[in-house]
Amino acid sequence: MAQVSDARPVPRVSRIDGSIRVPGDKSISHRFAMLASLADGPSVIRGYAPGADCAATLACLRAFGVRIAREGPTVRVEGRGLRGWQQAAGAVDAANSGTSMRLLAGLAAAHPFRTVLTGDASLSRRPMRRVIDPLTRMGARIDAVDGRPPLTITGANLHAITHVPEVPSAQVKSAVLLAGLHASGRTTVDEPAPTRDHTERALEAFGAHVDRAGLAVSVDGGQRLTGCELTVPGDLSSAVFWLALAAACPGSVLRIDGVGLNPSRTAVLDVLRRAGASIEVAPGADHGEPMGSITLRAGEAPVVLEILPEDVPGIIDEIPALAAMAAISRGGALTVRGAGELRVKESDRITMLARGFGAIGIHVEEFPDGFRLQGGPPRGGIADAAGDHRLAMAFAIAGTAARDPVTIEGAGAVAVSYPGFFDELDRLADGDHR
Ligand code: S3P
Repeated sequence: MAQVSDARPVPRVSRIDGSIRVPGDKSISHRFAMLASLADGPSVIRGYAPGADCAATLACLRAFGVRIAREGPTVRVEGRGLRGWQQAAGAVDAANSGTSMRLLAGLAAAHPFRTVLTGDASLSRRPMRRVIDPLTRMGARIDAVDGRPPLTITGANLHAITHVPEVPSAQVKSAVLLAGLHASGRTTVDEPAPTRDHTERALEAFGAHVDRAGLAVSVDGGQRLTGCELTVPGDLSSAVFWLALAAACPGSVLRIDGVGLNPSRTAVLDVLRRAGASIEVAPGADHGEPMGSITLRAGEAPVVLEILPEDVPGIIDEIPALAAMAAISRGGALTVRGAGELRVKESDRITMLARGFGAIGIHVEEFPDGFRLQGGPPRGGIADAAGDHRLAMAFAIAGTAARDPVTIEGAGAVAVSYPGFFDELDRLADGDHR
């Protein structure tokens, strides 16, 4: 988010016993809306994510001439067909959303006009060469100072490439595949490690054919998409804040209903098991994106956890929540290595995480590619969210167990992915005061 100066007090929570539903998945919402805009005919998306990031994607699509009607979580999109976007009248603003910018860059590259993609101060610091390079090889022209936003994209008739990204990134894979849908020939992305496969599944839901062979994904250009009705499951990355809180509070039992269970996102459940929680998964509906319920029972022992480089791509967004879990736990500890990518998220999530936890009395030692955190419980104090939604939520979760009051400065950042987060936290509060 841009600069926010709002502060929220954190209630005490010592045990959770109940069930929670979380808002729609952010990653899936972006993709459904983008593909719906390129489909033949209308689409209806239910359970669309309520946060500012996914609203930014809708605003960008409207700027490209796409007609969209939204009533709360239900979004109706009038598809314009493949390469059907119109040139935007001015700069197209992706706000705080890296997913919006990178995926839309792939699509703008295939539309034969000039597009300027901008973002807020945080997004303007994030690296874009990872999409600029492959999209340029496909035939687009992209101008950017120092490989950072704003991106000035001159779209073209693209040709297929095979791309081997340097870092595992679902955003890069998706940008190239979405461009590849518009290119002549077969585009392949061969990943260094598996990443979330929502783009592949969404392409299939809209009737396109995607080939997968090991870590390689291919799409033939020119396939038409068909408008359809879709349901977005709850966001597991949001649910993990509650699962982490419950896992760190002995005696807790928490059920999350209607949450996404895509296997490319559920590695965090195994990490929570490694941390001592017992977890049962009950699969429910599966319309291309599996969903169901998760029940977690807290363990008794301190949370002592090591995240290895090979774990990181599968849990990259959940590391702040896991840090909060270890911070709460008396005698807890968390070591993370191989996670240099955290430094180029909505904030530098290593330095800012160390600073925020430090401000409430949790010691964090920084490494270039990770950190070591010594568990608490926290002392109390004021933690600055650094404009980062996941850090705001992580500091708040840690603060629930602090001895003295905790305030989150810039708490409004949660609106990026989970606008109701603090209301839900208040609902879980013990009822007494520190
Ligand atoms: C996302 C992919 C991940 C993740 C981000 C959402 C996506 O980023 O951190 O929150 O929707 O594709 P990278 O692809 O850069 O790893």
